[in-house]
Amino acid sequence: MKFFIDTANLEQIKEAQDMGILDGVTTNPSLMAKEGITGTDNILKHYVDICQIVDGDVSAEVISTDFEGMVREGEALAELHDQIVIKLPMIKDGIKACKYFTDKGIKTNVTLVFSPGQALLAAKAGATYVSPFIGRLDDISTDGLNLISEIRHIYDNYGFETQILAASVRHTMHVIDCAKIGADVMTGPLSSIAGLLKHPLTDIGLEKFLADYKKGN
Ligand code: G3P
Repeated sequence: MKFFIDTANLEQIKEAQDMGILDGVTTNPSLMAKEGITGTDNILKHYVDICQIVDGDVSAEVISTDFEGMVREGEALAELHDQIVIKLPMIKDGIKACKYFTDKGIKTNVTLVFSPGQALLAAKAGATYVSPFIGRLDDISTDGLNLISEIRHIYDNYGFETQILAASVRHTMHVIDCAKIGADVMTGPLSSIAGLLKHPLTDIGLEKFLADYKKGN
């Protein structure tokens, strides 16, 4: 399973990259605003800064909601760097734009996916990634992980190559459960990745190994 970090915070992206396990980055307008990155020029520059830190795919989201606007924005984003993936909303024009970029060989990520039918449409349009938001479904008492299972089942039935990018991951158990189900990618905050390191028996065991080594030296 690929690990993407879901942030526009350059320090956190660097920290995950330094661990050697980072496969890419996802962003959205809310994550940009959280880091105080506003204005088109600053946002575009920030995408390039992110691409210079990581080796893998970096999702950059359009803010247009009409086909022409998405194409215009997406083409400008794709020009920025060859790691940029065009992130499109799961609406009719977003699907149409997805097909347009797929036909041009430009990678896409269809976002704000909350149902298996939406994921099926994204795959039909040739999306590189589909982003089901599991945390936000959990927030409204709906099983987000079940959506990942349903999409996995449908995609495997037909051999769709669209990668399931489990998004809105909130914690380590989401990561582990997504890996069990067979999500292709997960994207979450640094804490959901770094939390996987933790086990008290590891800390206790290491402490004992080091203490025993010191006894003999
Ligand atoms: O990847 C989608 C993500 O940014 C949404 O996460 O935690 O705001 O639901 P969250």
